[in-house]
Amino acid sequence: MSQQTREQWGSRTGFLMAAIGSAIGLGNIWRFPAEAYKNGGGAFLLPYLVALLTAGLPLLILEYSVGRKYRKSPPVAFRQISKPASVIGWWQVAICFVIASYYAVIVAWALRYAGFSFGKEWGKDPETFFSADFLHAGSEPGLPTSWVGGVFWPLLAVWLVVLLILALGVRRGIERSNQVFIPLLVVFFVVLVIRAVTLDGAAEGLDALFSPDWGALTDGSVWVAAYGQIFFSLSIGFGIMVTYASYLGRRSDLTGSALVAGFANSSFEILAGIGVFATLGFMAQANGVAVGEVVTDGVGLAFIAFPAVISQMPMGGLFGFLFFASLAIAGITSLVSIVQVIISAVQDRTGMGRLPAVWGVGGLVAVVSLLVFPTDAGLALLDSADHFINQYGIALAALVFLVVMGWVLRRLPVFQAHADETSAIRLGLWWRVCLGVVTPLVLGWMMVDSLRAEFDENYGGYPTSFLAWAGWGIAGGALVIGVLIALVPWRTAPRAEREEVR
Ligand code: ALA
Repeated sequence: MSQQTREQWGSRTGFLMAAIGSAIGLGNIWRFPAEAYKNGGGAFLLPYLVALLTAGLPLLILEYSVGRKYRKSPPVAFRQISKPASVIGWWQVAICFVIASYYAVIVAWALRYAGFSFGKEWGKDPETFFSADFLHAGSEPGLPTSWVGGVFWPLLAVWLVVLLILALGVRRGIERSNQVFIPLLVVFFVVLVIRAVTLDGAAEGLDALFSPDWGALTDGSVWVAAYGQIFFSLSIGFGIMVTYASYLGRRSDLTGSALVAGFANSSFEILAGIGVFATLGFMAQANGVAVGEVVTDGVGLAFIAFPAVISQMPMGGLFGFLFFASLAIAGITSLVSIVQVIISAVQDRTGMGRLPAVWGVGGLVAVVSLLVFPTDAGLALLDSADHFINQYGIALAALVFLVVMGWVLRRLPVFQAHADETSAIRLGLWWRVCLGVVTPLVLGWMMVDSLRAEFDENYGGYPTSFLAWAGWGIAGGALVIGVLIALVPWRTAPRAEREEVR
């Protein structure tokens, strides 16, 4: 496809479905409930809402505006604003490479667990089953020494599905698949939540999630957690929304679309919190313990606590299938958007056609993912890559992006005018203040706070030698790769393309 005729979404609903599909992902279903519980329960909703209004929505609008104005992927769009800014775009592409390689693995686990649910194959000890029988995880984190077939094959299937969707293109592949997956996800999830809230003990679970611990609001780390959750969950700060908006038509309403996508994502997130905690309430009651004792975060919540609940509840097999299938569907639509950032950047940069880019570049991400993660070291690698890329990849890239756009290049008014041109709701001074002052301050504070915690104690209790290459190596590597690619001599953009963006 020539560079002048960029693909376009078929309709506004199609774009919205894709944007919502990207936002609703693994982060909503298990990350949010655990974050909310750990950070003040009901009181967490206040910083969460503040983060949504002061950082999430304003940044989403900015990313839509940049994407639609330049109609290019982040590195090429940023380069048209200022040459050195393309480093931030390539850095985001490198972040997407890392995230895609491990995100696919969690989707593969979920697929496998959807199958395990019917026979409750984890038996009486889901924890040992998960780490020893399923993942063959080594006792000491280190270099991979063997492959794990039980993860490899579902992972290969996930990659084939994702690359096929991408190969079909923006409209026929991404848009259509989201139009099928999102309604399916909503149906599965609504059934799941209705079942969950009608379980015995559900009220105690909801009580644990929503009882506000107001004291938590004076704790800076609670606010940091809320901002972190919003960034990951809305898919902002890693180039996805710039890329998706680059396929928008000239007249689409940007601010309205951002509000719809943002509120849909948060509503789903709160629904997930209700479903997960109602279920944990059931488990706590069945075992005669407090809800706090059955809550774990991240991987443990979905793949250890949930299987234990499924084993104990009536019709648990079906419930388990719905939960893990929802996780897999939500994950696939997000994974498609993450890989699309990489493919579209390479296409914009080299003029390569979609199919060679999908199978060549997307294939490369798949190969790395298949070589590194379905191994005995996969779990520890995934956990540390996720932590470091979120803290020092996404958040730092977003901070640099905002400082460059707001303070160095002073381009916020330009993007505000661009969004206002076609949006029913007009942006005001508050939008520039949120992006130019509030969000950079919070992100800066997030950096300092996380670095302090990092030096106080090793993340996850892993040995320093392991974290040095698996965590810092990956996060730092993403930055170095971004800078290096940006330095490779540039293909001159066709004249029409350069003039179009002036
Ligand atoms: N926004 C995606 C998620 O929540 C990445 O998982």
